[in-house]
This record gives sequence, C-alpha cells and structure tokens, in this order.
Amino acid sequence: MNPVSAIAHTNIALIKYWGKAQQQNNLPATGSLSLTLDAFYTKTTLSLAESDSLILDGQAESGERFYRVAQFLGHLRLLSGKSFKCAVASENHVPTSAGLASSASGFAALALAGAKFFGLDLDGKALSELARIGSGSAARSIFPGLARMHTAGYAEPVLDAPLDLCLVVVSCSRKQKAIDSREAMNLTAQTSPYYPAWVSTHQADLDGALAAIQAGDFDALGRLVEHSTLKMHASLMAAQPGLWYFEPLSLTVMAAVHSLRQQGLPAYFTLDAGPHVKVLCEQKNAEALQRELSNIVGVSGVTLAGPGPGAYLL
Ligand code: PMV
Repeated sequence: MNPVSAIAHTNIALIKYWGKAQQQNNLPATGSLSLTLDAFYTKTTLSLAESDSLILDGQAESGERFYRVAQFLGHLRLLSGKSFKCAVASENHVPTSAGLASSASGFAALALAGAKFFGLDLDGKALSELARIGSGSAARSIFPGLARMHTAGYAEPVLDAPLDLCLVVVSCSRKQKAIDSREAMNLTAQTSPYYPAWVSTHQADLDGALAAIQAGDFDALGRLVEHSTLKMHASLMAAQPGLWYFEPLSLTVMAAVHSLRQQGLPAYFTLDAGPHVKVLCEQKNAEALQRELSNIVGVSGVTLAGPGPGAYLL
C-alpha cells in the first residue's frame, strides 16, 4: 500500500472558539470564523506500519502529542472498519521566528491523508467533521480563506467576501506555551464566572462579523475581532487559577496597533493560546503595517500572511 501525503494550512480565528459543548466528540460550545493563511502549513504522510508512530519535524514523539494522533488513528479504524497501523510523519512549515506550529493544520492534514489512506470517501463537510475530532480549529483548515465553524461541528467556506484580508504575524516570544488550548479552555469553562457570558454573547459577534464581511466594512469587522479575542482572554484570566498568554511585548504590540490606528492605519489585533500578536489589515495596508511593526524593539520576526488554500492531497 502506497504512502499518502496531504498539506493543510494554518488558520487564525477572527471570532474565537473557546470551550466545548461536548468533550467526547470535541463539539464546540460556540461557532467561530477564521482565515486560512498562505504562509504556514503542515505536510503529513501516512505509511503502513507494524504499530502506530508519530515523527514530528524529524523527532519521534511518545507523549501527549502521540497519544492524540493514536486516538485519531483509532477513530479512522472505527470509521473504515480497517485495522491498518500507521507511521505518521509530519512537518510544520512555519518560519521559525513565527512560533505558530499549530494543531489546526496538523489535524486537517492528518484527516485528509487519513481519509484517503483508510479508503473513506468524504466530502468537505464530512472531512471537516473528521478533522474536528483531532482539534476544534482543524475543522476550519479544510477550507481556503475565510471559514465559518458551526456548533453542529463542521466548518464551511464563507462566500461573498469582498474584503482583501491579510494578517501580519508578530513574534513576541520564543518560549513554549505554558498550557495548551484544550486544557485552558476546559479550565475556563469549569471555573471562570465569565464563561457563561462568553458563550451567551458569542453569536452576536459572529453574526456581526459575517455581516461586516459581506458589507465590505473592514472597521466593523476589526472592532469585533479585537472584542472577541479580548473577551476570550478575559474569560481565561478570570479562571481559577487565572491564566494569560500575553508577554509584556505582546501588550506593547497591542498598544502599537491602537496608536497606528489613531494615526490612520486601519489594523486590529488578535491573540490565541500563545504570546504572538496577529494583526488584521487589508492587503493595501499590509506592507506599511509590516514596516511599522518590525520597528518595535524586541520583536523577533514579522511575517505577512494572506488567504491560503484549503487542504489538498499530494
Ligand atoms: O482547536 P484548538 O484546541 O487548537 O483550540 C483553538 C483555540 C484558539 O486558537 C485560541 C481559538 C481558535 O478559534 O482557533
């Protein structure tokens, strides 16, 4: 049996997913909206083997990362009725300074390569549902450009999107993240008094962002993007114990984005489960913004990313 390889690109949520309605199936408590990026991707190859294994960027993995991949392979065996064991080799193509190695591109590539390897004939929606089992955000990386995730557990592309969006990724630390997103969102859901408010106010943000995209209103979209990320991080800060992903430099970059905006450069920040700041802008302003953000002392890299392709087989 021939090896199968697939590529999937990272996506960054503009309206965040944070919290699960169901642990077992990894169903999200809210929808979300993301941009798949051209600059960062994962290539994953599956080959027939005596037992399951994972090599990530040339290194054999045996801990939590391997466990999640092995669980996913078990799910593929269940769906297909085939008992193949697999060697999984995965490479993250992310500029080293960007520090964006992501479970989204990883599980989207694994879902696509895995479906082919196990002989499953899945359409985009079913592939997206499969990727979600590995990681909630991976469901969106199946699709190019803007993707909307539904609480039913699958994503779909957002059509009629007249804005030319770009993200400028500002690297703010070389440290590994202290606590992964899965653990942090569960802690938020279980202990943060702000979590119910996060869930109950989320749909309005998502609807507003989709309406802003369709109306071509960049500023209306940007305001909701900052609101969604700040609300997500506030809910996490109010968990017990309280946690945050910002580094001092992340806050400096966030403040710089506000001041650039006051000076007439339309840009809005978003942060995920890590210290890096991603700044949303329109393509026409991307290079000016990249120049400005590169001048901030301490920033180790600034990468410009535009809309990227959906997941594909090689
Ligand atoms: O699917 P996960 O476990 O990688 O969680 C993603 C969480 C955020 O990146 C913070 C938000 C999002 O919607 O991608």
